[in-house]
Amino acid sequence: MSEAPSQSRIWAGASLVTMTQGRYHIIADGAMVVNQGRIAWLGPRASLPARFNGMPRHDFGGGIITPGLIDCHTHLVFGGDRSLEFEQRLNGVSYAEIAAAGGGILSTVNATRAASEDELLALAEQRLKLLLADGITCMEIKSGYGLTLESELKMLRVAKRIGKKYALQVRTTLLAAHAVPPEYQGRPDDYIDLICQHWIPQVAAQGLADAVDGFCEHLAFSPAQIARVFDAAHQAGLPVKLHAEQLSSLGGSTLAARYQALSADHLEYATDRDAAAMAKSGTVAVLLPGACYMLRETQFPPVAHFRRHGVPMALASDINPGTSPACSLRLMLNMACTLFRLTPEEALAGVTTHAAKALGLSDSLGTLEAGKQADFVHWPVNHPAELSYWLGGQIANTVVFRGEQR
Ligand code: NIG
Ligand code: FE
Repeated sequence: MSEAPSQSRIWAGASLVTMTQGRYHIIADGAMVVNQGRIAWLGPRASLPARFNGMPRHDFGGGIITPGLIDCHTHLVFGGDRSLEFEQRLNGVSYAEIAAAGGGILSTVNATRAASEDELLALAEQRLKLLLADGITCMEIKSGYGLTLESELKMLRVAKRIGKKYALQVRTTLLAAHAVPPEYQGRPDDYIDLICQHWIPQVAAQGLADAVDGFCEHLAFSPAQIARVFDAAHQAGLPVKLHAEQLSSLGGSTLAARYQALSADHLEYATDRDAAAMAKSGTVAVLLPGACYMLRETQFPPVAHFRRHGVPMALASDINPGTSPACSLRLMLNMACTLFRLTPEEALAGVTTHAAKALGLSDSLGTLEAGKQADFVHWPVNHPAELSYWLGGQIANTVVFRGEQR
């Protein structure tokens, strides 16, 4: 690696929480040499090689440095909100009943279709700014509230614009198989045909999506229908992921594993066999405590099965207007610990090491290691458990994206 001094810097005086192999692996009083947006060296400050002497240096004077946080499952782009539906649910109507009556996802579809690209961007930015304050340096953003080709493309273009406008890496996911659109009520297979034959090839040709997702559930699509979407995705050269086992056990996560999915997400009703299949295929379990909490779900994802089989667990905000209007990823760490009994170490791995894997980005993101992208956060705290401990507030101090302070 050539060392252009103007783009090089030493960040020192804090403990490095490297998160290699998903563990804290703390280097006390560390130093990290960043060159051209990548980590060139890291270790104890006392061992800094002499060749780096004379490089500009930033001394934090305490605190910890973690990898930049990764929100690997979001529906950041949408029109409207569903606060009235929240009220309805608290008056006793279920999520499934609201969806069956044409509300739920479809009410957001109407609002999203009606909004212009610029309007959607402005709405997404309000939420984005709150999330970014928690030290997020990479975010996945799904479509899925358009359900026409033009409006799905519109959502994906907004997501791409966010990645250009902000110091943030954005990964986009086509979620056309999120719900049956009004035009195809009673004809879900025709809609799946359309997605497979026309939309996926077009989205892939335009380079607008990095992956393809679906919602496998009684109120959305069956495993057989999702399998067709996955075949089309693979034909277009795109990896897959799936909303699976959120409200019932349909075997979506085992199906996802069969297609080497990057992740299966939600998983409240996943079984031991699902966990075994996911372990075999290297599919990450993305847990979404915000959705679980908002739906007042009492069945939690089978964390013990995932641990036993060695399935990596990621955590995400799932920010969306229906089930998880969550504007803080750190709050999700706390909820994962209190609701799902993850340890703070597992929770932090869930938004760093394992979130990177859930996006297929383990080679460049997720840990502090030489050669990786220099995305990191300085937190003025004594121990990384504090990131899961505090409820709300703003803690992230300095956020560095590709070597540049944000
Ligand atoms: O991840 N489960 C399906 N999709 C979203 C929620 C969609 C909605 O209700 O708007 C989720 O929870
Ligand atoms: Fe989701």
